Amino acid sequence: MKSRKLGNSGLAVSALGFGAMGLSFPNAPTKEESVKLIRSAVENGITFFDTAQGYGENELLVGEALEPVRQEVVIATKFGFKNGDGRLGLDSRPENIKAVAEASLKRLRTDVIDVFYQHRYDPNVPIEDVAGAVKDLIQEGKVKYFGLCEVNTEIIRKAHAVLPVTALQSEYSMFYREPENEIIPTLEELGIGLVAFSPLGKGFLTGTINADVELDKTDARNMSPRFSKENREANKALVDLVVSIAVDKTATPAQIALGWLLAQKPFIVPIPGTSKVRRLQENVGGADILLSNDELNKINLALATIKIVGERYPAQIRDTAERK
Ligand SMILES: NC(=O)c1ccc[n+]([C@@H]2O[C@H](COP(=O)([O-])OP(=O)(O)OC[C@H]3O[C@@H](n4cnc5c(N)ncnc54)[C@H](OP(=O)(O)O)[C@@H]3O)[C@@H](O)[C@H]2O)c1
Repeated sequence: MKSRKLGNSGLAVSALGFGAMGLSFPNAPTKEESVKLIRSAVENGITFFDTAQGYGENELLVGEALEPVRQEVVIATKFGFKNGDGRLGLDSRPENIKAVAEASLKRLRTDVIDVFYQHRYDPNVPIEDVAGAVKDLIQEGKVKYFGLCEVNTEIIRKAHAVLPVTALQSEYSMFYREPENEIIPTLEELGIGLVAFSPLGKGFLTGTINADVELDKTDARNMSPRFSKENREANKALVDLVVSIAVDKTATPAQIALGWLLAQKPFIVPIPGTSKVRRLQENVGGADILLSNDELNKINLALATIKIVGERYPAQIRDTAERK
């Protein structure tokens, strides 16, 4: 797989990473299957893995799977919740950041965290103090690079002034293009990479979740207004567009969704997740999709005519999830 640099930091990673979050969801594969899946991502050329303290047992899985190839891969994890549980609230106090780093190093079976992101902005802790804590960890050799998630440009600038931010991780896909307004131009100006989460629109862009599909009761997408049956029906035009491009390019919709993201900027690295080896192999093919300027213009014109309906997060968690 081709590689990409995350902004000016010099950190090189595979053009597509792997988001491991879903391997800790209800109905996830067994531990053995998950370890195999992560290792098969490596065999398929992926060198960039995303986990978080907040994803339950996820760091343990990632640590076990990648231990034999640790020198060949880049591991990113996140801090920022009380006891690592998003439901308990935010905690980016420097002492918590440092304690999380120690615990994450153990769970990940490594002596250094490659990218350490703040998972969500904490209004009770100045971002300068957060950057300062990560700076200490870098000086101690426990962390290599600093990242933020889902913050606005003011916070990015403040943090970057204390410690260069290597990557911002934010949702970005054909399904959610808000970062194009201010975030992407700012990242470009400052030389910061964009790690695009939910690049397949949490599966919606793959065309496999139309309004008739019954989501399992445990499926977290039930909480997302975008995934109500009515909104899935209303947003069908977007899936139809992706499917039609896929037919033209003899590719799959997932590959088109990923190829489109890669075509937006050279510093964007999508991190799709899947619990299935066959889909992992399919998604890896997204790194080879080449869209000409004509094709991109045609797609962007079509996208401009489609109004996406439904919020990403329910109102009760929108405040922390989308703190801008
Ligand atoms: N920083 C943050 O706040 C944040 C928030 C959300 C996510 N993330 C990161 O981003 C990663 C990816 O995001 P995500 O899991 O929300 O969304 P995603 O990667 O856009 O989509 C994952 C969903 O798509 C399905 N899928 C994957 N490949 C497919 C294919 N080829 N055909 C059909 N369906 C396919 C998966 O189901 P199967 O498992 O059944 O294949 C899963 O339900 C996460 O693992 C996590 O690391 C970060």
